[in-house]
Amino acid sequence: ADPEMTLLTYLRRKLGLTGTKLGCAEGGCGACTVMLSRYQTHTHHYAVNACLAPLCSLHLVAVTTVEGIGSVARELHPVQERIAMAHGSQCGFCTPGIVMSMYALLRNNPKPKMADVEEAFHGNLCRCTGYRPILEGYKTFTVVRNTRYLTPVNVDLFTTSLFNPADFTPFDPTQEVIFPPELMSLSKDQRSGLLCFRGDRASWLQPDSLDEFLRLKWEHPDARVVVGNTEVGIEVKFKNMVYPVILAPAFIPELNNVSHTADGVVFGAACTLSHMGAVLKKAVETLPPHQTEVFLAVLEQLRWFAGLQIRNVAAVGGNIMTASPISDLNPVFMAAGCRLTLMDKDGSRVVQMDDGFFTGYRKTVLRPQEILLSIEIPYSKKLVSAFKQSPRREDDISIVTAAMSVTFTPGTDVVEDLRLSYGGMAATTVLAKKTANGLLGRHWGEELLQEACSLLAKEMTLDPSAPGGMVTYRRTLTLSLFYKFYLTVLQKLRLQVSEHSGCFSYREAENIPPYLSCHLQAVPEGRSQDDSVGRPMMHLSALKQATGEAVYCDDVPLYENELYLALITSSKAHANILSVDASAAEKMPGVVTCLFADDIPGCNATGPIEHDETVLAHRQVTCVGHIIGAVVADTQLHAQRAAKAVRVQYEELQPIITIQEAIAAKSFYQPIRTIQKGDLEAGFKQADHILEGEIHIGGQEHFYLETNVTLAVPREEGEMELFVSTQSASKTQSLVAKALGVPANRVVVRVKRMGGGFGGKESRTTLLSTVVAVAANKLKRPVRCMLDRDEDMMITGGRHPFYGKYKVGFLNSGKVVSLDVSYYSNVGNSMDLSASVMERALFHMENSYSVANVRGRGFLCRTNLPSNTAFRGFGGPQGMMVTESWMTDVAQSLGRPAEQVRRLNLYVEGESTPYNQVLDQITLDRCWDECLTRSGYQERRAAVDVYNSQNRWTKRGLAIVPTKFGISFTVVFLNQAGALVHIYTDGSVLLTHGGTEMGQGLHTKMVQVASRVLGIPCSKIHISETSTNTVPNTSPTAASASSDLNGGAVQNACETLNQRLQPYKTKNPKGSWEDWVRAAYFDRVNLSTNGFYKTPNLGYDFETNSGRAFNYFSYGVACSEVEIDCLTGAHKNLSTTIVMDVGNSLNPAIDIGQVEGAFMQGLGLFTLEELHYSPQGVLLTRGPGSYKIPAFGDIPAQLTVSLLRDAPNQKAVFASKAVGEPPLFLAASVFYAIKDAISASRAESGISGPFRLDSPASAERIRNACSDRFTKLCPPAEPGSFTPWSVQV
Ligand SMILES: Cc1cc2nc3c(=O)[nH]c(=O)nc-3n(C[C@H](O)[C@H](O)[C@H](O)COP(=O)(O)OP(=O)(O)OC[C@H]3O[C@@H](n4cnc5c(N)ncnc54)[C@H](O)[C@@H]3O)c2cc1C
Ligand code: FES
Ligand code: FES
Repeated sequence: ADPEMTLLTYLRRKLGLTGTKLGCAEGGCGACTVMLSRYQTHTHHYAVNACLAPLCSLHLVAVTTVEGIGSVARELHPVQERIAMAHGSQCGFCTPGIVMSMYALLRNNPKPKMADVEEAFHGNLCRCTGYRPILEGYKTFTVVRNTRYLTPVNVDLFTTSLFNPADFTPFDPTQEVIFPPELMSLSKDQRSGLLCFRGDRASWLQPDSLDEFLRLKWEHPDARVVVGNTEVGIEVKFKNMVYPVILAPAFIPELNNVSHTADGVVFGAACTLSHMGAVLKKAVETLPPHQTEVFLAVLEQLRWFAGLQIRNVAAVGGNIMTASPISDLNPVFMAAGCRLTLMDKDGSRVVQMDDGFFTGYRKTVLRPQEILLSIEIPYSKKLVSAFKQSPRREDDISIVTAAMSVTFTPGTDVVEDLRLSYGGMAATTVLAKKTANGLLGRHWGEELLQEACSLLAKEMTLDPSAPGGMVTYRRTLTLSLFYKFYLTVLQKLRLQVSEHSGCFSYREAENIPPYLSCHLQAVPEGRSQDDSVGRPMMHLSALKQATGEAVYCDDVPLYENELYLALITSSKAHANILSVDASAAEKMPGVVTCLFADDIPGCNATGPIEHDETVLAHRQVTCVGHIIGAVVADTQLHAQRAAKAVRVQYEELQPIITIQEAIAAKSFYQPIRTIQKGDLEAGFKQADHILEGEIHIGGQEHFYLETNVTLAVPREEGEMELFVSTQSASKTQSLVAKALGVPANRVVVRVKRMGGGFGGKESRTTLLSTVVAVAANKLKRPVRCMLDRDEDMMITGGRHPFYGKYKVGFLNSGKVVSLDVSYYSNVGNSMDLSASVMERALFHMENSYSVANVRGRGFLCRTNLPSNTAFRGFGGPQGMMVTESWMTDVAQSLGRPAEQVRRLNLYVEGESTPYNQVLDQITLDRCWDECLTRSGYQERRAAVDVYNSQNRWTKRGLAIVPTKFGISFTVVFLNQAGALVHIYTDGSVLLTHGGTEMGQGLHTKMVQVASRVLGIPCSKIHISETSTNTVPNTSPTAASASSDLNGGAVQNACETLNQRLQPYKTKNPKGSWEDWVRAAYFDRVNLSTNGFYKTPNLGYDFETNSGRAFNYFSYGVACSEVEIDCLTGAHKNLSTTIVMDVGNSLNPAIDIGQVEGAFMQGLGLFTLEELHYSPQGVLLTRGPGSYKIPAFGDIPAQLTVSLLRDAPNQKAVFASKAVGEPPLFLAASVFYAIKDAISASRAESGISGPFRLDSPASAERIRNACSDRFTKLCPPAEPGSFTPWSVQV
């Protein structure tokens, strides 16, 4: 085995076991989760990330993958069946990993509690489902269902008709696969001797005794010690580190030993964090409380330390020795005064873990020949607390982490000893010694607090340019966390605490009984069971997705002579290319060719609408990540290593990175769109008040779990077959043909399914596909490339950041009469779809409110960022976010409840939009009223007010927000679709349509439509794939319109076939479907046809501000309640109630899945996800480690989703409505609930009235906005006086 090979590569590439997925390669998404089993004294099962597990580390370990526990063909495991049947799998790319996390939990604990289930998923992400259905499905395995997930009166989770637990196969834990007996006997054979694996660049040495380990370390002082590989694996993969000798001590007894001494518990350095946690938990249960303060602090840090898969392998020694300044454990170890035993061949020494231990960034006092043997965690003689503040609660690295301990002179509150240790404030974990010394001998009271704060503010400083940014926030946190400690100690001293809410952590404030529920319209009684329309039918691929049998692009088996491609990309945002030297790369192992612009046989100009970009840059680069060339080699590793060896010389030019820079330089693309109605000036004159404001809305990474991937296979006569993960098969076809210089009829693009798209695979996929096709064409061999997560994030763009500036005139009543708004979007280095995105923002500038006099202008900022592109909502959410900002300002400036002001301005039937479209069949008011009632808005409001009056440092906020989303592509010609339907002589039907399946359930819905029209059960209908040689000239699967458009085409085709079959039905009314099909066939009737649909009466004209822009509108309303921790900026989503109008739902399970999935994505957009760019335009957040999408714990504790009843929509197939994008904006209710809570906090400091809050409402922004005595001590540096680490783009 090659020491650098991971288990994941081995499974996927060597064994062809593709059920285990690659989502990030950095332990951050859980898609690669497998279960490992080891026999020591008993069999131990644990979930791990296969992407970080070195193959060599698996000696005597059994590996269970998703394929090993069940399959559709054989028998499904209940864990697989339940996630599918509970609708917990949409695109399915995350599903095998989630299945394996649950499976590993059940192997250890067949009767888990809900809290165990939640903990098991700390390391798994899903971008589609919104998590609720996964939890609901798996709740059926739990024993104590009513504690954590308390089911409130009248809302019984098990009676929602989305699934019926009675249909599930019972779970019998005795039927599981046993641990392989051979491995067991080998494991019992204690000593295996020194194991040695040698690879091209590294050797793996695995000693089985301490002496041997020390000897090897003496011989190889530069050797890297590897236990969990969760640090070293990242360094090798992402920092290009090469470690020629790896020492793996995981099997050495002394390093795994745990012993209880008179002073504390000693852990061998290779003890995993999970093991350490279990030992400490037991100690806490058995020892007297005064001894276990430190243990509790360690456990608090472990609770939010990475995901379970990481904790199961990562060692305590690895955390200490990495010496990371943001280690979560080192501050506790330092504050507690832990002792470390270091050892080399000649003996051992014991050192105290204090600030002398860390000698610099990632450096310690260890000598090269030394190893860390163990750590002793003492019983406490002090009061100890630990704190971690990270952007996301689960599985996230710290912004600031801290631990504090204090001892008092016996019988007093006089400080005898104090330790304050902080991570995230310097190059190492540090002790605030000056502050601590300054407080010795003081009474624990207000004076001490004041002194502590002013000392800390002076001692814990940061350079304004410090890496990681958030400088003011981090400095404030050092004070806020001390204040929390101060209050906690006061409480422990049983002294009077008037501001007790300050020591709460929102993480503990779980006094809201959690529940999740859905409401939908039942199918009318008497309807045939064969008619599935309106029923919650399971996604047709869900079972295959849960077993790993569903094939994604990179799962297509390797061709015999296949090659792998890696991209060469620009490291500069704006530069002339002076030279490119690939000579070193060409000589590297496995390299077949390097590819540059000259290798393109056709045209190098590309782009989805305007051809304003290059396939491969040749003279100039205009963003970091701009593709310059590619290396093609025998393996991915060889290609990637060689690509890094290509040297490019640049002449740097001045880049434009931010919207503000673009405005200053007037760097805009044309056209600058305007929509104007009424008389703006007259409107402002009529207004009682006028206010102005602004808001910046950050961009968003799609973070589809499956990155961009293409496999190109050259065929004869210039033909090229491409397997692509794309939403736009036809666009890929035409742009590949253009680059190859062949007619489109030589290029076939095939899409089986995508592991998520969300707009990110609408146009930007064509860049990769074209390069891969050019390579395959040059070499006449199949070529494949799946982007690494960091490349994908860097190259492919995302949601456009927007800056909105507004002036709004309104009456005393709150009625808005005049609005002038300007939108600026950060377009990036090419147009892509940005003009349409801006148009949609303008079409949504009034959201759901009637404004008589209005002007909206849209400026497209040309910058040197990777081109931004489509993302669920397509500019609509940004457009409406600005609306809600001024709406909130209007209410705040009048001092009126925002809910009343919003209601007052809501559209009513017959009013017309700023683009002169008359609104009919409005359901906004119904959604609004139902949402108010279901959420119990008024009672909540009263309760929030009471809560806020009683709590100084935690505040609650509430907001109700509507949405109106226009359905249709705004480019008229795209509103067409085709379908192709074949009926075979056995009666089976093969259905093809122009849409692609990315998890949204489009294929399932299309089968339902065909099933109803043909009058046959869905089981007779199959969709194999989307391909350009079956349905040509397709529009991208986008704009939420695919069910409407393709549904219309499928309906049309099936109706034609029905007409052809009608004579045979009439002739033989009692015959079966098969009888009619056979009769027609023998009668020489064509049983194959295509169908076509185009949306009628569309066509808006910007010049005249007339014509219909949209076919219809989807409406929805959400009410959310949050709680913020004013001291740290953390927040908790307490409750969300959504009422959504989806017409007559084609499939309520899928529609609710779309509502929840979109809502959670919006929640990420508005409260969590932050892309950081350096001032030079380098994306700094390039993976799940630094870019946080919502995790399981971010779902509102109470979530109710209702589909509006009795609201048929006559403008789409079977009275349904589009649902993919509209609900996303409803997450703005969470943002404005946060803003409401911040207002309550500001009121405590005497501040009132409108204030600017940019999106996302991150912990940093929340904390900074809650101005108080602590923020005043940490004023921000003067803008312009320093170069920040990251800029707001
Ligand atoms: C997804 C993810 C999430 C993470 N989340 C967190 C988090 O929330 N908080 C946090 O603090 N960290 C986090 N980390 C960092 C990491 O998991 C921890 O630092 C972990 O404890 C490292 O242990 P390991 O066994 O995997 O280390 P390895 O990668 O095996 O080794 C790490 C380093 O320690 C040295 N080393 C290990 N053992 C010894 C020894 N006995 N003697 C001498 N040197 C030794 C190695 O030489 C190496 O340099 C995260 C990492 C990942 C990938
Ligand atoms: S691929 Fe392993 S955790 Fe993401
Ligand atoms: S279903 Fe979870 S990522 Fe798509």
